[in-house]
Amino acid sequence: MLKLFFVQTALLALSGTTFAYPSHMSLAGLTREQLDQIVPTLTFTPPPPPPAPLNDTSAKLVNDPAHPWQPLRAGDIRGVCPGLNTLASHGYLPRNGIVTPNQIIEAAQDGFNMDNTLARFLAYGTFLVDGNVVTNEMSIGSKSAATGPDPPAPAIVGGLDTHAVFEGDASMTRQDFFFGNNHDFNETLFDQFVEFSNRFGAGKYNLTVAGELRHQRIQQSIATNPNFTFVAPRYFTAFAESAFPVDFFIDGRDSNGQLEMDVARSFFQNSRFPDGFFRPNHSVTGEGSDVVFAAHPIEPGRNVGGVNNYVLDPTSADFTTPCLLYTNFVNETIVGLYPSPTGDLRTALNFYLNLFFEAFDNSEGSGCTQLFPYGQD
Ligand code: HEM
Ligand SMILES: *[C@@H]1O[C@H](CO)[C@@H](O)[C@H](O)[C@H]1NC(C)=O
Ligand SMILES: *[C@@H]1O[C@H](CO)[C@@H](O)[C@H](O)[C@H]1NC(C)=O
Ligand SMILES: *[C@@H]1O[C@H](CO)[C@@H](O)[C@H](O)[C@H]1NC(C)=O
Ligand SMILES: *[C@@H]1O[C@H](CO)[C@@H](O)[C@H](O)[C@H]1NC(C)=O
Ligand SMILES: *[C@@H]1O[C@H](CO)[C@@H](O)[C@H](O)[C@H]1NC(C)=O
Ligand SMILES: *[C@@H]1O[C@H](CO)[C@@H](O)[C@H](O)[C@H]1NC(C)=O
Repeated sequence: MLKLFFVQTALLALSGTTFAYPSHMSLAGLTREQLDQIVPTLTFTPPPPPPAPLNDTSAKLVNDPAHPWQPLRAGDIRGVCPGLNTLASHGYLPRNGIVTPNQIIEAAQDGFNMDNTLARFLAYGTFLVDGNVVTNEMSIGSKSAATGPDPPAPAIVGGLDTHAVFEGDASMTRQDFFFGNNHDFNETLFDQFVEFSNRFGAGKYNLTVAGELRHQRIQQSIATNPNFTFVAPRYFTAFAESAFPVDFFIDGRDSNGQLEMDVARSFFQNSRFPDGFFRPNHSVTGEGSDVVFAAHPIEPGRNVGGVNNYVLDPTSADFTTPCLLYTNFVNETIVGLYPSPTGDLRTALNFYLNLFFEAFDNSEGSGCTQLFPYGQD
């Protein structure tokens, strides 16, 4: 958030009274003055209702002639999520990486058979934090991979790569934000992915490997990253994302739960379905994250005052307190990002907070009380 904030400030300062504000850049964290300049130039048009669940959730060819993989063009954006990167590189999402939440839901369902409720939870949750809620647009990353020099040019639009909240520490194939590049595929980390798959999966990534590698990445962050933070919602998504390669990256005609390394690399590094790839043969809810967690349970927390000092944070939600996940997300995260929205920004936030609650209420949070931090109209 900090990085994004400084960049936005710089952009605004440079451009004086007239400036072009990218329509997919989040409005989160802007000052009152900045919002007063930008929000009146934007109009919120409520998008259509969320896409319905698939009628046909059988396995099917998804690397099909209508969705060929294409290399990045100058300006195309990719980011932290190998799932969304792949959907964009095959045209299930716009290839430039600038998307709407409904496009994410539709693409995740069609291309990967992701469960409707899970897709809505992820899409609206990340969108509220990383997207522009008034224009309905979000970028799936921070930079255009095809154009930047190496190391890449500074990010101008954080999108899904924006650190904290969803993008978080201890990723399998991306470094912690503290070390600089939190979004690009990292070969050293992938080597460790392969090494763990050799050691615990006889050369394949499976849920046993996932449990060990999740633990390893957490221990590495505790030992090396003085800023290591592992609280909700990242705490939840970290365990889910460790199961995702087993859930989504294995061909749907294959039921053994063992992911080949060349297939893993294809998704993680190249944003590419293998030739002839079939999506899973059922609607995927992220099953297996409980297995990953149970291998090495750890409570939410963070390093305090330096490395090797992981202090538990009892105010963070954990697997026993799903409603706290929702409450903290709305009352702390969203209200922290948008302390006192007005006009179309407030209307749009209420609209998306409602969609987020509906998704949440449909899953782990059923029975939680809906919150209305900005009133109820
Ligand atoms: C539906 C909307 C989705 C959203 C909004 C989303 C968002 C994200 C975000 C923000 C991260 C970064 C977390 C981190 O810091 O590591 C991430 C990571 C990840 N995502 Fe997604 N994702 C979505 C769907 C999917 C799908 C369908 C798949 C699989 C096909 C997938 C697979 C993964 C994996 C494996 C990681 C972990 C990467 C790593 O640890 O190296 N995601 N996703
Ligand atoms: C899915 O099923 C519903 C209800 O049967 C139907 O209204 C809808 O048209 C179907 N959608 C597709 C894409 O076939
Ligand atoms: C690390 O945390 C400190 C204290 O919260 C903060 O000032 C600094 O910007 C952080 N650095 C990075 C790279 O995250
Ligand atoms: C990849 O990650 C490793 C381990 O954190 C780090 O030493 C290395 O510099 C990273 N490589 C790149 C190209 O960023
Ligand atoms: C993972 O692979 C190893 C080695 O073949 C095997 O012992 C283990 O049972 C597998 N775990 C799962 C969940 O498939
Ligand atoms: C998916 O395929 C596996 C075997 O390959 C089978 O056991 C399972 O029942 C199938 N699921 C559905 C919903 O067809
Ligand atoms: C959320 O914040 C509001 C306003 O500060 C407060 O009245 C409410 O009790 C909080 N809700 C929860 C569940 O913490």
